[in-house]
Amino acid sequence: MAKTIRKYLIAGNWKMNKTGSEGADLIREINLGLGKQTDVGVVVCPPFTALESSAKALEDSNVQLGAQNMHPKQEGAYTGEISAVMLRSLFCTHVILGHSERREYFNESDSFINEKVVAALDSSLKPIFCVGETLEQREAEQTFEVVKTQLVEGLKGVSSEAADNLIVAYEPVWAIGTGKTATPEMAQEVHKMIRDELSSILGEGAAAKIRILYGGSMKPENASELLDQADIDGGLIGGAALSAKPFVELVKIAASK
Ligand code: 13P
Repeated sequence: MAKTIRKYLIAGNWKMNKTGSEGADLIREINLGLGKQTDVGVVVCPPFTALESSAKALEDSNVQLGAQNMHPKQEGAYTGEISAVMLRSLFCTHVILGHSERREYFNESDSFINEKVVAALDSSLKPIFCVGETLEQREAEQTFEVVKTQLVEGLKGVSSEAADNLIVAYEPVWAIGTGKTATPEMAQEVHKMIRDELSSILGEGAAAKIRILYGGSMKPENASELLDQADIDGGLIGGAALSAKPFVELVKIAASK
């Protein structure tokens, strides 16, 4: 269902998991489990090498396809990189940008992520733009400051109109893959701050429309309370997106709201 004007979105980030055929098998199971539901937006984000087979498996489905990264340039001498044009040619509609694993292991800076966000929007791809603090930063009470900087820097040059296609994901780094989830209250506190910040960057109208997903050990057991929070509009799911049962269950929980 919807939270005022925002429809819930459940997105699966498969990270570096699943071959092309394993991905297509998982999508077939997800399709069977979900049928043609349209109450909740659903996106799966396989690795690049599984995008083509995933797109085929999604042909008659309401589930949409996203990538996990892209290069800001359209083409050129960037060995190993993939552009927005290439993703669009594989029927991708979404792309995860600025994930903490890319920030940490691949040294992606706020300004590089900003280039990608702008390039994705220019190419009609919907960025799932990730922000979040580390444990050290949370313990030093820097959460708001860190997340605010990521938002301000990452959204430079983005217009209020383009914001219709923007999705933000709050992923506290200490909650990713650790089994530790932010409590619903902790998550809501940051989501509210993110919406206020989006309001000052893009305007109140745009901020009210942007979906802010929570990510970090979200699973069927803890999803309901998180999704009940006023500014939590869905989830960016890692581990629980790697098999159909919990992923379908998560969509059903969102649909029941
Ligand atoms: P987990 O759900 O495995 O904690 O991963 C969250 C995440 O990083 C999604 O992008």
